[in-house]
Amino acid sequence: MTTLSWGRRYLLCRPDHFTVAYEINPFMHVQVHPDPAAAAAQFDGLVEALRAAGAALEFLEPAAGLPDLVFTANAGVVDGDVFVPSLFRHPERQGETPHDVAWFAAHDYRVTPLEGTEPFEGAGDVLPFGGGPGAAHGPVLVAGYRMRSTVGAHTRLAALLGVPVRTVELIDERYYHVDLVFCPLDERRALIAPQGLDRYGCRVLEELVPEPVWLEDDEAISFCANSVVVNDVVVMPSCTPRLGKILEGAGLTVVVAPVGEFLKAGGGCRCLTLALDVDLSAARHAVGGR
Ligand code: ARG
Repeated sequence: MTTLSWGRRYLLCRPDHFTVAYEINPFMHVQVHPDPAAAAAQFDGLVEALRAAGAALEFLEPAAGLPDLVFTANAGVVDGDVFVPSLFRHPERQGETPHDVAWFAAHDYRVTPLEGTEPFEGAGDVLPFGGGPGAAHGPVLVAGYRMRSTVGAHTRLAALLGVPVRTVELIDERYYHVDLVFCPLDERRALIAPQGLDRYGCRVLEELVPEPVWLEDDEAISFCANSVVVNDVVVMPSCTPRLGKILEGAGLTVVVAPVGEFLKAGGGCRCLTLALDVDLSAARHAVGGR
C-alpha cells in the first residue's frame, strides 16, 4: 500500500455559528436544530482524530450569519499555491466566498477565480486520484456534476489548472456532492458509493480505480464515503463491521469520529475539511504542461 501524496494539511472552521437556518439539501430541516455544545464537542473530536493521525490543521475564522462556513471542503480547490474559489449554487452560501478568499490571500495563495458564472462547489465536488508512487496512472480530478457543480465549470477548472478531469453525474439528490460517493484511500483504492451514480459513472470510476471498495446502501447513506484519509488512517463519520474488516485488511486504520450534529446539515467528516497540500503538477506534466 502506498499512502496518498496529499491529505496531511487541512483547513477547518470551528462551529461557533453553525446551525441549520435554511434547507438546501434533503438532510436539512429548519425545525431540526443541531445542539451547539454537542456540535462543538464533535468538532473537537474530529480535530483530535485528525491530529492523532498526523495531520496539520489551520483554522478559518467563523462568521456570524454563515452557518455552513464550517464545511470548508466547499470553499474551493487548492493546487500548490493556487486557490480556485467556489461559485456556490445557492445564494444562502454565496456570502462565504469573501471569507474564504481573504484567508487564502492572507496565506500567500494565488487566488485564481474560474471564469464564468456556472456553479462550482470546490473540493466537495472535485477530488484528485492517482499519480503517486504505485498508482496505475497519472493524477486526474474526479468531478461530480448536476446537483451543485456543472460540467461547464469542471471543464473550465481542467483548462485553468491544466489537469485531466473525469466527470461523473450525481443522480440522487441525497448524494449531492462527489465527496459523498467517492473517497480516495491510497494510490490504488477508493471508497465508491454506486448509489449516487449511474452505470456510466460507475464504469468511469471502475476504470480509474484499480481496487475499488464498493459501499453497501447502509454505508453510503451513513456517509462512509465522507471520510478523511491521513497517511494510513481513515477518519470516518461511521463504519460497519464489514467495511472495517475490508479497510483493516488493506492495511488501513479506521477511526470513527461521530459528527451527527453536522449530518443534520448534510455534512460529514470530509465536508468539514479542505486539503491544503494538493499539488497537481504531476498531472500537468502528463497532459503537456500549463
Ligand atoms: N449544508 C451544506 C450544503 O448543503 C453541507 C455541505 C456538505 N459539504 C460537502 N462537501 N459534501 O451545502
